[in-house]
Amino acid sequence: MEISERAAQLTPSLTLSIDSKAKAMKAEGIDVCGFGAGEPDFDTPEHIKTAAIEALQAGFTKYTPSSGIPELRQAISEKLQADNQVTYRASQIVVSNGAKHACYNAILATCQAGDEVVIPAPYWVSYPDMVRLAGAEPVIVPTSERNAWKMSAEDFENAMTPRTKMLILNSPCNPTGSVYTREEMQAIVDVATEEDIYILSDEIYEKLVYDDVKHVSIASLSKEAYDLTITVNGFSKSYAMTGWRLGYMAAPEAVAKAVDSIQSHTTANPSSFSQRGGLAALKGDQQPLVDMREEFDMRRNYMFDRISKIPNITAIKPQGAFYILVNISQLGLSSQNFADRLLSKANVAVIPGAAFGDDRTVRLSYTTGIDIIKKGLDRFQDFCRTL
Ligand SMILES: Cc1ncc(COP(=O)(O)O)c(C=O)c1O
Repeated sequence: MEISERAAQLTPSLTLSIDSKAKAMKAEGIDVCGFGAGEPDFDTPEHIKTAAIEALQAGFTKYTPSSGIPELRQAISEKLQADNQVTYRASQIVVSNGAKHACYNAILATCQAGDEVVIPAPYWVSYPDMVRLAGAEPVIVPTSERNAWKMSAEDFENAMTPRTKMLILNSPCNPTGSVYTREEMQAIVDVATEEDIYILSDEIYEKLVYDDVKHVSIASLSKEAYDLTITVNGFSKSYAMTGWRLGYMAAPEAVAKAVDSIQSHTTANPSSFSQRGGLAALKGDQQPLVDMREEFDMRRNYMFDRISKIPNITAIKPQGAFYILVNISQLGLSSQNFADRLLSKANVAVIPGAAFGDDRTVRLSYTTGIDIIKKGLDRFQDFCRTL
């Protein structure tokens, strides 16, 4: 059988290849310290699981409306108003199988052949391939540590062409942990509104911000910003629900309708009982989220302190998400080579920055217990000293 050009152009996920090597080593009994995971190591809070179990027991096991159950869309609408100061009616919200699915639907609904989509790098691994699947072209804008891995309005303006259709912004960012300030976002939005460029705002890490940093939703900045923005969010990171596959997008009515059509013909509704779990997550006790955030914060401080003492590597203290991006360029290895050698020689798994469009870096997650973090960093430090 022949593979379509569309499928053949996709780049296999570097994230998954390191992960599967690390898993194979673990299966052989090797003591691997894993800094590769992109998901919380916490269990889903009990009251959320109970809601899904009760839904199953009550026979809530059938198709639901394609874009999600009305009470969940309503709860999301209320959450967006209360937490993000953006007004979306339930009809402007589509619940999908994860924020990943929501991003892809949104790109498919708005971008096509001939369009360019601006993506600041380092970026979340899937954006460029989603854009290519939609037939459009990713335009990568490199950033640097000097600006805390953030794209300036000027960088954005320089990357724009008459074909620019969309900007994808992810704040707090995976893999950099950077969070855009209100002023930085406003400057970018001013450029976008001048040229009517859409903004896909991936806010999946919004609840994981540290110190006195505030998450700002782009759509809350102005009426012009609202009209051009598709807001994506989900349950995976905030509520430790990665396996439930539940996320959503909120957008102007026409985009929500188009996304609903795409979803109705491809996957239809996200799992019925996951939706009941999502409803409990939004309506129920938020303390588990606060506790998880505190634990991440403690690990972030520890990890950053250790990393900043290792010679010849550099890092910016992350303000959000659960990753630290380490610049290894002074060590003279490609990120893939570094990650491969670190895994085989020191039994430590990290993700090579090449996966995120920046070969100078590797990503370490702090989604593992502090004892493993300590042991893994001892090994990481010894390994760096041998280079
Ligand atoms: C920036 C970003 N967006 C979206 C997602 C996808 O999340 P979900 O599990 O809701 O599909 C991830 C997951 O790693 C992510 O890091």
